[in-house]
Amino acid sequence: MTAVASTLAGERRSQSEEMTHPGVAAFEAFVADLRSLYREGRNIPALWRGIASRLEGLARNESFRRLTDGWPEGDGKQYVVHVDAEYGFAIDALVRGPFHKAPAHDHAHTWTAYGVIAGWERVTRYVRTDDGSDPKHAVLQEVSSDICHAGGVDLVPPWSIHTESNDDNRAVALVVRSENLGGFDHTAYRDDGSIFAARGLIRIDFPITTGIR
Ligand SMILES: [Fe+2]
Repeated sequence: MTAVASTLAGERRSQSEEMTHPGVAAFEAFVADLRSLYREGRNIPALWRGIASRLEGLARNESFRRLTDGWPEGDGKQYVVHVDAEYGFAIDALVRGPFHKAPAHDHAHTWTAYGVIAGWERVTRYVRTDDGSDPKHAVLQEVSSDICHAGGVDLVPPWSIHTESNDDNRAVALVVRSENLGGFDHTAYRDDGSIFAARGLIRIDFPITTGIR
């Protein structure tokens, strides 16, 4: 490479380094970390404890939080940020406006790490107290209800029945799932206990750089 070409390449590199938002860099390092956890071949619960702990690190990263400040509210939409071609996990973002409340639901057979990046959400968990024999009706009992503040992560194992809700605040969550939504049904429960199947929210592709000003 000539001296001029080498200088140009150097300039180009430093320009692109300047253009990389530190929150984007944090996200890319996070994805690389998750991929190494998968590569280690841990058993599933240990893998997900590791994912939850890495997500907690990202959720406490101020640059990443700032990156999400420009993300638009998307009730009814799931922002798909990354689907891992090799390991199958998916990362999506949910930006809730005030007074959002999901019906009680599970995530079927999948694992989920739910990280609150900004604002807060209440996570309420339930168990079925009926014998499970009626496919159309269930009796749910609340077993816990906790506020998950920004920087916190809720790990949701398969079949765990829960709701997420907020109050008069905007809430941003980054969610790691063992597989992308859309290909299987969740079980959801209305307040009267009737059961319905749901495929999840509308999904849209959402590059991590969305909202950088
Ligand atoms: Fe959920």
